[in-house]
Amino acid sequence: MHYRRLGRAGTKVSEIAYGSWITAGGKYDRETSVACHVKAFELGVTCFDTADVYSAGEAEEIVGIALREISRKDVVLATKCRGSMGKGPNDSGLGRKHIIEACEASLRRLKTDYIDLYQAHWWDEAAPLDETVRAFDDLVRQGKIVYWGISNWSAVQVRDAVAICDQRGFDRPQCHQPRYNMFHREIEQDLMPVCKEYGLGFIVYSPLEQGLLAGRYRGEKVPEGSRATVNKRFGEKLLTKYNAFGVEELDKLAREMGLPLSTIALAWILCRDEISACIVGASRPEQVEENVKASGVKLDETALAKIQKILDRRWAMVLDEDAERLRTGAEPRKDD
Ligand SMILES: NC(=O)c1ccc[n+]([C@@H]2O[C@H](COP(=O)([O-])OP(=O)(O)OC[C@H]3O[C@@H](n4cnc5c(N)ncnc54)[C@H](OP(=O)(O)O)[C@@H]3O)[C@@H](O)[C@H]2O)c1
Repeated sequence: MHYRRLGRAGTKVSEIAYGSWITAGGKYDRETSVACHVKAFELGVTCFDTADVYSAGEAEEIVGIALREISRKDVVLATKCRGSMGKGPNDSGLGRKHIIEACEASLRRLKTDYIDLYQAHWWDEAAPLDETVRAFDDLVRQGKIVYWGISNWSAVQVRDAVAICDQRGFDRPQCHQPRYNMFHREIEQDLMPVCKEYGLGFIVYSPLEQGLLAGRYRGEKVPEGSRATVNKRFGEKLLTKYNAFGVEELDKLAREMGLPLSTIALAWILCRDEISACIVGASRPEQVEENVKASGVKLDETALAKIQKILDRRWAMVLDEDAERLRTGAEPRKDD
């Protein structure tokens, strides 16, 4: 496993991180979820990501159980607040009261004294930004969190937050957690340059596009036991003609290179120095084992050019479909 700095911070994280969205709690059994965390740690993963809202707090409890089996001090533990954890008006959002109470509740569920990386899960238009930033900074000063970060914020929101931090002497957010993978490259336009300018690292989510880029979805049917059987919307978004084309062509290339498709997909992300880590999901320890193989794999210029060609052709198919939908008055694509 290779390790990278968390943005400009001195702290290092494993370039493959492991997250507990969907796969910890709910219909997934606790033993398997704990086993996935333990396997990840054994294979060198030190960065574990969760959130209070994942399975309504259950995911954090499971991470807390896993932490008892692995070494707390060797882990960079990341969680998030912002989503709704109750029915009250202050049970969600990025107001000071909720941030502080949500942090206390996460610490209890995780059974730890501190969180290494505490992230604003997404933007809150109702909370004054200076109040949000101050609340995170206070938690740093109190020693309850080591760093704070953001997730799903725009480039403008990042600039505004950093400006307040610099004016008031608050700690800046250390990293950003957006979605990023071969099929979703929106952040390259504005967010990547802005975060690079301010020294925020990226720990990106859904790097395998929920399993699509690990070859989990092929053909026309949702595979048995996959997360798309739990949430129908996932299947609708993943099983498209252009995705099937992209996966088939990338898989051919991966086989030519003698690597698993997932390795190519993760190594492609890790080529960029803006990236601190890719947070993979996995519902079984074998998936974790496969996914960590990408660490340290370098794709050369020829491989990158071949990948780009496939991605360009897939993108042309997406645009063709958009044009056709517009022409016929059909609903817009579900793939956001
Ligand atoms: N900040 C946010 O808003 C946000 C949003 C989403 C995720 N996240 C974070 O990012 C983490 C990862 O997101 P993600 O779960 O979408 O990541 P992902 O790695 O793109 O997808 C994970 C899923 O892909 C399938 N998979 C993974 N490895 C595989 C392999 N080697 N072979 C076959 N299938 C494989 C599994 O699906 P099956 O279970 O169906 O087998 C697995 O559950 C989350 O746990 C969470 O911590 C954050």
